[in-house]
Amino acid sequence: MRRSSDLQPEIADESAWWRDAVFYQVYVRSFADANGDGVGDLDGIRSRLGYLELLGVDALWLTPFFTSPMADHGYDVADPRDVDPLFGDLAAFDRLVTEAHAHNLKITIDLVPNHTSDRHAWFQAALRAGPGSVERDRFVFRDGGGFDGSVPPNNWSSQFGGPAWTRVADGQWYLHLFAPEQPDLNWDNPEVAADLARTLRFWLDRGVDGFRIDVAHGMAKPYGLPNIDPRVELGSGILHDNALDPRFDNDGVHEIHRMIRKVIDEYPGRMAVGEIWVKDDERYARYLRPDELHLGFSFGLLQAPFDADAVRSAVEHGLGAVRSVGAPATWTLSNHDVPRHVTRYGGGDLGARRARAMTLVELALPGVVYLYNGEELGLPDVELPEWALQDPIWLRSGHTLRGRDGCRVPVPWEGDTPPFGFTQGVTTWLPQPNEWAGLTAESQLEDPESMLSFYRHALELRKSQPAFNGDELEWYGAPPGCFAFRRKGGGLICALNTSGGPVPLPPGEILLASGPMDGNQLPPDTAVWLV
Ligand code: GLC
Repeated sequence: MRRSSDLQPEIADESAWWRDAVFYQVYVRSFADANGDGVGDLDGIRSRLGYLELLGVDALWLTPFFTSPMADHGYDVADPRDVDPLFGDLAAFDRLVTEAHAHNLKITIDLVPNHTSDRHAWFQAALRAGPGSVERDRFVFRDGGGFDGSVPPNNWSSQFGGPAWTRVADGQWYLHLFAPEQPDLNWDNPEVAADLARTLRFWLDRGVDGFRIDVAHGMAKPYGLPNIDPRVELGSGILHDNALDPRFDNDGVHEIHRMIRKVIDEYPGRMAVGEIWVKDDERYARYLRPDELHLGFSFGLLQAPFDADAVRSAVEHGLGAVRSVGAPATWTLSNHDVPRHVTRYGGGDLGARRARAMTLVELALPGVVYLYNGEELGLPDVELPEWALQDPIWLRSGHTLRGRDGCRVPVPWEGDTPPFGFTQGVTTWLPQPNEWAGLTAESQLEDPESMLSFYRHALELRKSQPAFNGDELEWYGAPPGCFAFRRKGGGLICALNTSGGPVPLPPGEILLASGPMDGNQLPPDTAVWLV
């Protein structure tokens, strides 16, 4: 790929393509629908590869498209080695891989090793086989407490609300850190690891370039499944993490990642990125040791408000955490689990201006970037009517938490009215707002001022300019509410203004600005690249 002369010799080869790549997350249900049923699919993605190439990304991450009853929209996998008919079939997947590669796009897919679907053949067999059976040992079944076993085995709650245990007909309970339809696997059972290795090889043999590992800090459970100390304030929701929480980040997880890495290493040039919600930098870095994951999402940017000090601290943590293990940092502003950043930063024009500014910050950083489909169009979250909500969080919280549907609304491609070219059918699985007419890809492609043109320009510069070389940053002194850093290798300067008024620009020639400039001043809610 680019700038190989600047990379250290051992990583200068093409097989380490992922070290500074821009990935694009395709939320498969919502990207493009080829068969007219209102749900995105694999052929739909294939029909938009030209767009993705034009955008200038290097690789795609496809969310789960495996056989699933869709209790958690595919994160409940009933057969990890087949395609759900909703999304296509294996032949459609093979076509997608071949054509993506012809467009110079790598394909990475999601793996869900913490749990299966309750419709997975193993879980069905476990239900039939009864307590103490080898079938039950693939999951986490326990007897309950109390004189009649009616008290859950411990006090753990599910990430989606309610207890993490569900009782089956014969009285035993099974563990599910997510929905009841997502029983946790027992990673102490060697069959579980063997099956994941089989799944990895199945997709590697079909030509995938890598994996995103779902809940990569889950899987291993602590011996005896101890209660959570009730004095500990765990918070709630999918983003939560806490060093005192026995459900996640148990030391046994690293053996699992070493197993995964061994299999991937049989296939040169393939990679894995982990979803790791672990706040402590040192514990987080363990996942990225040379024999574990290649990359781990750094969620600090996505959690930071639009405030220069908070963003700087997220950047410093992100870089500091990986320094000791030699892995690149992995940045992201949005994904399918959190409100879109245009909305987080205030929505409307203000949110869009700030989103542009933060995009420049993100793309100026050393390491890897993950974009989420639709952010290049400036899509905000959608305030969906209650009847439309489908996320299990909505149901499990007794209709008190709206869940994640607002960031999952299908992408608007063209035309003036829904479904905006997303489907040939009439409806989409989540309704699109009429106001998205001004945000379609078609309406933005030829407009040099659009968010889409801005992304294309920024990605092109990031790929082609030597100013983006180097793994370290130096920070300049800056007025309150602002920061400026310089890439130590190539010399790119990035300045951000989150204060209420204009500030003087650092010296240099402007390469790209996130919004209109004010002479030699950097206006509020704006970022700039200088060389
Ligand atoms: C991850 C996914 C999320 C899913 C959960 C359970 O956090 O990103 O969408 O619901 O895992 O698999």
